[in-house]
Amino acid sequence: MSRAPSKTSLIRFPKDFLWGAATSSYQIEGAPATDGKTQSIWDTFCRSAGKIKDGSSGDRACEHFVRYRDDVALMKSLGLGAYRFSISWPRVMPGGKGQLDDRGIDFYSRLVDELLEAGITPFVTLYHWDLPQELQDRGGWTNRDIADWFGEYAGAVGRALGDRAKHWITLNEPQIFSFLGYLTGEHAPGLVDFNGYGKASHHINLAHGSAVQALRSEAQQSTIGTTLQNPPVHPRSDSDEDRQAALRFDSVFNRWYLDPVLLGRYPELALELLAPLQIPILDGDLTRIHQPIDFLGINHYSRFFIYADDSIPLLRAMMDTSHHAPGARHDDFGWDLYPDGLHEVLTMLRTEYANPVVYITENGCALHEEFRDQYRVDYLDAYLRAAHRAIDDGSRLAGYFVWSLMDNFEWAHGYTMRFGIVHVDFETQKRTLKTSADWYRDTVLRNGLV
Ligand code: FCB
Repeated sequence: MSRAPSKTSLIRFPKDFLWGAATSSYQIEGAPATDGKTQSIWDTFCRSAGKIKDGSSGDRACEHFVRYRDDVALMKSLGLGAYRFSISWPRVMPGGKGQLDDRGIDFYSRLVDELLEAGITPFVTLYHWDLPQELQDRGGWTNRDIADWFGEYAGAVGRALGDRAKHWITLNEPQIFSFLGYLTGEHAPGLVDFNGYGKASHHINLAHGSAVQALRSEAQQSTIGTTLQNPPVHPRSDSDEDRQAALRFDSVFNRWYLDPVLLGRYPELALELLAPLQIPILDGDLTRIHQPIDFLGINHYSRFFIYADDSIPLLRAMMDTSHHAPGARHDDFGWDLYPDGLHEVLTMLRTEYANPVVYITENGCALHEEFRDQYRVDYLDAYLRAAHRAIDDGSRLAGYFVWSLMDNFEWAHGYTMRFGIVHVDFETQKRTLKTSADWYRDTVLRNGLV
């Protein structure tokens, strides 16, 4: 007698797996000069001609600053268990130093209350790229003092919100904002400066350490982590040159930010490659960076293809953004759909970095389809399957945040790239669920994939 096959089978996630969505302050808030907020480097950068593809800025964005209540209601309707947002440093601490401004911090305090009321756990990112312009005027991340400035800011915000917000992320993607901000000039502050990059890359790590220390004392009983984007770095070809180039790129781009935080040392290869920059790493710095953290946030989109190029200083390696694996589907950004890459990153963390607790703090794709975004459904489904495989293998993956809750200001691409599961009409500010939002709500509800 044959047993009837079950109609559907479910790939179930662990019982307390957290399902969320992510955004960041500059990309959604608008209100660039309300209630005492000062300018950030992104306010400045957007005003420089030719920097943003459609000439736009985050001045209005999703008007989340005034619409946050509706947005939280939207999250609730999607069944989200968690929401990752970032604090605008110049909104809560105008000019970047000194006392918190009551009006600025009050916005986030109300947001946190609203989330808790809706049963949604806040995940607070302290820095998602909108540095106060006044601090940039003092050198920004190239000034070693920024480790103290950031620590003071983190402590003040922790003191103000830490009684209710219990999950903290110090920095969003150090490797992206340092590379694009200081090496390629594509992001604020728009510099092409190798020496500046070298200093910034170390001060960013130091600042992470200071912020963890400050949060430990000001936001007790919190879980604290940081968010990196550690894409798999693959050689474009099988040649030995390209393989070596990929190793160099991985060491400088990924492990420079991962190793000091998790292992308390810089990778040898990167130290060798960056030696000409004479990065001022002082006694005690690595201890300051290597604070115990409770989780690692990983943002994941695709993989990088790297080739050897001797004309590139120090690294002698370059990323080929137009290269695709044969037959691979890709999104509007040109990023390949490559879910095995997520499995690869989680496996690397498990086997080489003592298996930290991980949250995927961003994952998603850019699509011009405004409402029926089947590609996004396929993408999210495939990446979640890869994540599930990693959990089966023993990775300690505790939650997942889709990027993004809603369409928003996509940095140098302005409003030309849509990452939301919720569509935003930027004229009327109307929010409309896309196919992917319905799919995500069902996934969250059943805590699994069909
Ligand atoms: C990440 C950023 C996020 C968003 C996505 C598409 O690198 O953290 O703000 O721009 O890319």
